[in-house]
Amino acid sequence: MVLEKIDQLAREWLEEAGNRIFMALEQSNIEVEAKSDRNDLVTNVDKATEHYFAEKIAAHFPEHRLLGEEGYGEEITSLEGVVWVLDPIDGTVNFVEQKRNFAISLGIYQEGVGELAYIYDIIGGEFYFAKRGEGAFVNDVAIPKLAKDNKLEDSLVIINTASVRKFPHMLPVIQAARGLRLYGAATLEYMAVATGRADAYVSANLSPWDIGAGKIIAEEVGAIVTRVDGSEMVITEKGDSFVASPGVHAEILRDYSR
Ligand code: IPD
Ligand code: CA
Ligand code: CA
Repeated sequence: MVLEKIDQLAREWLEEAGNRIFMALEQSNIEVEAKSDRNDLVTNVDKATEHYFAEKIAAHFPEHRLLGEEGYGEEITSLEGVVWVLDPIDGTVNFVEQKRNFAISLGIYQEGVGELAYIYDIIGGEFYFAKRGEGAFVNDVAIPKLAKDNKLEDSLVIINTASVRKFPHMLPVIQAARGLRLYGAATLEYMAVATGRADAYVSANLSPWDIGAGKIIAEEVGAIVTRVDGSEMVITEKGDSFVASPGVHAEILRDYSR
């Protein structure tokens, strides 16, 4: 019952937040700041979006907690109770430079279990959703389960240069694949794997809000989500991430791990 209420309100708030982001782009009302380095960007729109969710969650579900990128939530190291894991804009560099290829990402965890997930690619017009055990959808159309026997030689893989530097054994993976693609937003890279537009995405350094929703949606269609060494990926811990269709995940671990 509570999940139904959360789902209904989350959809309303995502739609409203999406409209506000769209208007900010239309009106060029974007102020950019650098965080840890000159390419780690945040804007007034990232902050306003997270603040909007923080106020809504506190007003409707005061006992729930928010784990968000921009600091309007709480310091969270465990997923007790209900936790809303939010990236108000994933792909902020794309948001600033391209005005597209970014998304709002929201995952709802209850006692550590991912129950609901939403990734809203506002400009692309794609609204991804999953409910645990009930499948994943894009714009309300069910996403087919991934094939189990895909091969690396037929696959597109997604990995950026920083990740290849950290995991040099991924260079031969790229060479063995059909091709390399990069989107610049972890959530959309997860969705590329979930929808079969790519077969593997490797990243050296993701945070809870980058993967909170993507993991739920990808697993719902049968993708395998782990650390790069194949171990379990706990979303509250920042670190590397490896999501792939089952056959390609197994092939990379078997034939290319150090
Ligand atoms: C970043 C993007 C990027 C990934 C970074 C993330 P942000 O998120 O998802 O693709 O490589 O690790 O931090 O800062 O745009 O929300
Ligand atoms: Ca992000
Ligand atoms: Ca972000």
